[in-house]
Amino acid sequence: MSVATLTINDKLVSAKEGTTLLAAIRESGFEIPTLCHLDGLSERGGCRLCLVEIQGSPKLAASCVTQVQEGMVVQTHTERLVKYRKMMVELLLAERNHICAACVMNGHCELQTLAAKLGVDHVRFDYLCPDLKMDASHERFVKDHNRCVLCSRCNRVCDEVEGAHAMDTAGRGIQSHVIHGMNQPWGQSRACTGCGKCVQVCPTGALFAKGSTVAEMEKEQQFLLWILNGRDKKIWTWNR
Ligand code: FES
Repeated sequence: MSVATLTINDKLVSAKEGTTLLAAIRESGFEIPTLCHLDGLSERGGCRLCLVEIQGSPKLAASCVTQVQEGMVVQTHTERLVKYRKMMVELLLAERNHICAACVMNGHCELQTLAAKLGVDHVRFDYLCPDLKMDASHERFVKDHNRCVLCSRCNRVCDEVEGAHAMDTAGRGIQSHVIHGMNQPWGQSRACTGCGKCVQVCPTGALFAKGSTVAEMEKEQQFLLWILNGRDKKIWTWNR
């Protein structure tokens, strides 16, 4: 496989062709925020937090769905990017009901952590405060649409790793929501195996284990690479 040489934040780096810019950026030691990306799952390019500027292109590019190319000159933290990232987190917070103080993931939530890192100490947009439901019909898990950021990690892990495809996203725009089966209560979904992978990859408190109370739910995502490594390389060692 050939190797591309590119410049990231004025640093000359090499990356195998076919690698995503996001991977190259992280391998080069630069931090870049992500929400829909999760190592081990396909890329969706939905949250737009990983946006970068590529010299010669008027558009910002989501680095998780852009492949490295020879001679690329990339910037990851310009004033414009930092401003947009902050705005995107604010829009996510305004879209549903992210009341951290009353959330099972308070203190462990990826959206909350990102907001703190990006300096989001208030939201400049009107909160939509939609009247969304919770689905507690499953014997072990709960789905709270109020906390969902529609990253689709749950759909992808269910489809790509568990192989069940019990979940999907229905509706468009602001009506989008994660469904089980043909939009049935979770507990009635025959395709759901009850494995809980969707719960573990969910970055917020949208999916959680029954019985968790405020700030109690912590997620374990390392299982994903463990499964994929095991399947791929037949190495089944668990490194915590
Ligand atoms: Fe790239 Fe979400 S991580 S768009």
